[in-house]
Amino acid sequence: MSSINISREALIGSATLGLMFIAGYYVGKRKSKFSRMSSGKSHVGGKDDPVMQYLLNHSLREHPALKKLRLRTMEHKWNFIMVACEQSQLMANLARLIKAKKAIEIGVYTGYNALSIALALPEDGKLIGCDVSEEYTDIGRPFWKEAGVEHKIDLRLQPALKTLDELLAAGEAETFDFVFIDADKQNYDNYYEKSLQLVRKGGIIAIDNVLWSGRVVNPAEGDVDSISIDKLNKKLYQDIRVNLSMLTVGDGLTLAFKL
Ligand SMILES: C[S@@+](CC[C@H](N)C(=O)[O-])C[C@H]1O[C@@H](n2cnc3c(N)ncnc32)[C@H](O)[C@@H]1O
Ligand SMILES: *[C@@H]1O[C@H](CO)[C@@H](O)[C@H](O)[C@H]1NC(C)=O
Ligand SMILES: *[C@@H]1O[C@H](CO)[C@@H](O)[C@H](O)[C@H]1NC(C)=O
Repeated sequence: MSSINISREALIGSATLGLMFIAGYYVGKRKSKFSRMSSGKSHVGGKDDPVMQYLLNHSLREHPALKKLRLRTMEHKWNFIMVACEQSQLMANLARLIKAKKAIEIGVYTGYNALSIALALPEDGKLIGCDVSEEYTDIGRPFWKEAGVEHKIDLRLQPALKTLDELLAAGEAETFDFVFIDADKQNYDNYYEKSLQLVRKGGIIAIDNVLWSGRVVNPAEGDVDSISIDKLNKKLYQDIRVNLSMLTVGDGLTLAFKL
């Protein structure tokens, strides 16, 4: 399975893949305006919702550098692909709860969630950041530095599957505590399988966009992203290797707890 994806990457080139992902996401978001789930993200449709406002007013506790990075990201053209800040806070709290020391983020963008998780890790903690865009990740770096956690973030600018394979080849299986999957949707199952190998028992794999603005309910023919996510959702429901929760935070978040 992964060999097919690697050869596809070799054919198309990783930068193009990243762009294709972005394009797919953009088209998807535009369509999603007609769906009930479209206001799920606090910084997209949800910002106009008074209940969402209330929720943020009464729970969001952003580190000053995180807040600055969020505002800086909102100036970027793809800002809607940023993680929902209340979701990021939940994941940071979970990472702290399980005393995470080693984490992986698959799809970093401007690094809001990478910063949020890095802040939750101990001084000698490590977050392996996987992305293909130096342009996007460069936006976050000054804020990682400002927060004093730059040394905890090990950014690997190449296709995420390659990084995950390198970690496995380096003997790091079962050593990670937390993984956040948030990159190209057609590789979600590959990311999940490799993450399951890399995470220790009791570790958490968090998977973003599992409701995909509601399009997973009835994926249109040829809508390969929705179909990929729906397939993984169905597989996870039967997967006895993990305990499971699916939350309606953000664009839908699945938490898989490795048994
Ligand atoms: C939804 S964004 C990530 C948002 C981020 N987690 C945050 O906290 O805001 C998805 C990212 O995945 C990256 N990406 C797309 N295809 C990729 C691939 N094959 N390998 C690694 N990163 C990829 C894109 O460049 C983009 O920055
Ligand atoms: C949230 O806080 C903002 C800024 O303080 C305020 O303008 C707004 O009325 C608050 N909304 C709710 C629903 O609490
Ligand atoms: C978690 O998995 C264990 C082992 O399969 C199972 O016994 C337990 O009921 C599960 N917990 C929940 C809340 O699903």
